[in-house]
Amino acid sequence: MKYFTVMENIKESKNVNTVTFNDDISIIPGQFIMAWVPGVNEIPLSFSSVSDRKSITIKIYGEASAQLAKLNKGDKLFYEGPYGNGYSTVRGKKLIIGAGSGIASLMPLVDQHTTGIISGKTADDILFEKRFDKNKLHIVTDDGSKGTKGFATSALENLDMEDFEMIYVCGPEIMMKSVFDYVNDKNVNCQFSLERSMKCGIGLCDSCSVNGYQVCRDGPVFSLDQLRTMDEFGRTRITTSGRRIFF
Ligand SMILES: Cc1cc2nc3c(=O)[nH]c(=O)nc-3n(C[C@H](O)[C@H](O)[C@H](O)COP(=O)(O)OP(=O)(O)OC[C@H]3O[C@@H](n4cnc5c(N)ncnc54)[C@H](O)[C@@H]3O)c2cc1C
Ligand code: FES
Repeated sequence: MKYFTVMENIKESKNVNTVTFNDDISIIPGQFIMAWVPGVNEIPLSFSSVSDRKSITIKIYGEASAQLAKLNKGDKLFYEGPYGNGYSTVRGKKLIIGAGSGIASLMPLVDQHTTGIISGKTADDILFEKRFDKNKLHIVTDDGSKGTKGFATSALENLDMEDFEMIYVCGPEIMMKSVFDYVNDKNVNCQFSLERSMKCGIGLCDSCSVNGYQVCRDGPVFSLDQLRTMDEFGRTRITTSGRRIFF
């Protein structure tokens, strides 16, 4: 198994940490690793930076993410990967729409041509706002504790979607489904990074399947056209115990 040696642990918010490392591996934005927490689990995590100083940003949910978020300078992060297809990049104007920890995988795409919508339940969930040009950033929170009160789609109403060469979306599926419904009848190019329970990360266990696609191997990034064929998107997912549940 491969490993990174942690250079730094940056606290982004109450329950989100970024760990950085300097390894010489080639990563496409949007790809992920299966990070191993000995005796606990292996979990998928994307890269929040793919430059010389690479990073992973971890939101604490359960024991595996809690242990990874505590890694400090000199500690080893064991992993397999990188896996998945990643985003296809464009040179022109782009819009990124991220919510919660989903903003992490979008961060390598941010440059001077990027307009951002960051949404979250509360101010605490808004990450990485300083990395954007403040004139091109829209912050939206469910409770109005930061930015505008509302959902990601509220910010879309003020933008000309067809102005962007590509729109990238990552976050909770309920948010991605509302963005999908908003853009579905528009003439836009859009990529969505899906999140599913993953056990193997390499197309063997089927825990991540959506309408026959395996998110780990065929995704996690899917185009608008692909999502149009997936009637399970935004409706059902498979739990870690293999049960299908409805959103
Ligand atoms: C391709 C891919 C890329 C990912 N990239 C990142 C990333 O860059 N940063 C990051 O922080 N996370 C990312 N995730 C999500 C991350 O894998 C999970 O949060 C992680 O597996 C949680 O593991 P755990 O053992 O700590 O928690 P668990 O013990 O699995 O879960 C504890 C509780 O939290 C809930 N929960 C767990 N994960 C989530 C979630 N994502 N959203 C809402 N509720 C959840 C569970 O249902 C459960 O109730 C990614 C997922 C995928 C599929
Ligand atoms: S995680 Fe096993 S098939 Fe995708």
